Amino acid sequence: MKSLPRDYCPVVCDSSRAQECLDMCKAILADIADKNPSWYIIDETDDEYRALFSSPECFALGIEAPDGTLAGCGVASYRAAELERFRPFIPEEDFAVSGRVGYIEFIQVALGYRGLGFQRVFFRELEKLLVERGAKYLTSVVSPDNRYSLANFHKEGYREVGRYVHQRTGYPRLIMIKNV
Ligand SMILES: CC(C)(COP(=O)(O)OP(=O)(O)OC[C@H]1O[C@@H](n2cnc3c(N)ncnc32)[C@H](O)[C@@H]1OP(=O)(O)O)[C@@H](O)C(=O)NCCC(=O)NCCS
Repeated sequence: MKSLPRDYCPVVCDSSRAQECLDMCKAILADIADKNPSWYIIDETDDEYRALFSSPECFALGIEAPDGTLAGCGVASYRAAELERFRPFIPEEDFAVSGRVGYIEFIQVALGYRGLGFQRVFFRELEKLLVERGAKYLTSVVSPDNRYSLANFHKEGYREVGRYVHQRTGYPRLIMIKNV
């Protein structure tokens, strides 16, 4: 696995970086809008997206480029509404324990910083925080068409346990789990 290039640092992304992450997200969505809109879906409104960065249920990390701008960001959480999707695939006695199941909400890498292995750095760093807090199951969802992201999920040891159709868009989603 690639490690973080020199001069790039992992940073905690608090609410002061939320707008920068939202702007990055919008640039990414605009970039895929014509050809690959199914690759990345954000259901949150702008306010809800920004609120993730100050929620006690979430933690957000960024990778800062040498000039101080964010090259990417990733958010993990324990939001119950999101975790519910994974309940059928996790033993009930584990699912019932707070913190035992962690959720990778999203990882986004800014357009000028692709191909440096940053998505896998985010997996590693977010997973570390979830595992420190007691996670035994790491969960997320991904588009089956997003070959770059899906390849990284597989390289990181996630397996597909199911799939569903995203209600608003009709796009398919794979349900991914990694046992720690
Ligand atoms: C998926 C994503 C996080 C991958 O980021 P990454 O850290 O650049 O991934 P990698 O470094 O493993 O890139 C592997 C290869 O795919 C290419 N690549 C990655 N994402 C690409 C994209 N969206 N379009 C075209 N090529 C892409 C890279 O250039 C690289 O090619 P190379 O090996 O020839 O250099 C990034 O594309 C992204 O932010 N996409 C939008 C958000 C998203 O889909 N997130 C995942 C859902 S949680």
